Amino acid sequence: MLILSNQIPGKQPQSKLEVYDQLAAQLSSLLDGERDLVANAANFSSLIFHSRSDLNWAGFYFLKDDELVLGPFQGKPACVRIAVGQGVCGAAAANCVTTIVPNVHEFPGHIACDSASNSEIVIPLMKGERLIGVFDLDSPILGRFDDEDAIGLNRLVSVLIESSELATGLAP
Ligand code: SME
Repeated sequence: MLILSNQIPGKQPQSKLEVYDQLAAQLSSLLDGERDLVANAANFSSLIFHSRSDLNWAGFYFLKDDELVLGPFQGKPACVRIAVGQGVCGAAAANCVTTIVPNVHEFPGHIACDSASNSEIVIPLMKGERLIGVFDLDSPILGRFDDEDAIGLNRLVSVLIESSELATGLAP
């Protein structure tokens, strides 16, 4: 049974990094025994979306033929294809760096899939030096994401990558 971190009686996390520690343990157990990247990415999206506050979108874009293509997500329908270098996701993919945007309306080229989004964080998915795709979180709250989110989410993404076979159809 999956218990979300904010539902453990008597064990309220003390800090954001402790929350991410607990989420990493929950994610490991959730993905245990399954190597399918799409299935694991789907459960990853759901875990984050339903355990962290103030999110309106959580999901993946995978790199296919030099383009980011929509993968499993939670939230409203989103744009399907994003060119590398375009928008926040494309910028994070082009630079292979975690990208925090406190106010998406001030980010040149931001792609507005959901008008409720005001801030965003994008984590590149790396297998060694190889870019697999990105994980994208959107929030209606300005400045929702900070360096602790970046650290915690990178740790969770590492669990996903290590737990999954990289599916055919992804960039070689
Ligand atoms: N805002 C993103 C596009 C993806 S959606 O937020 C789901 C961007 O600028 O890349």
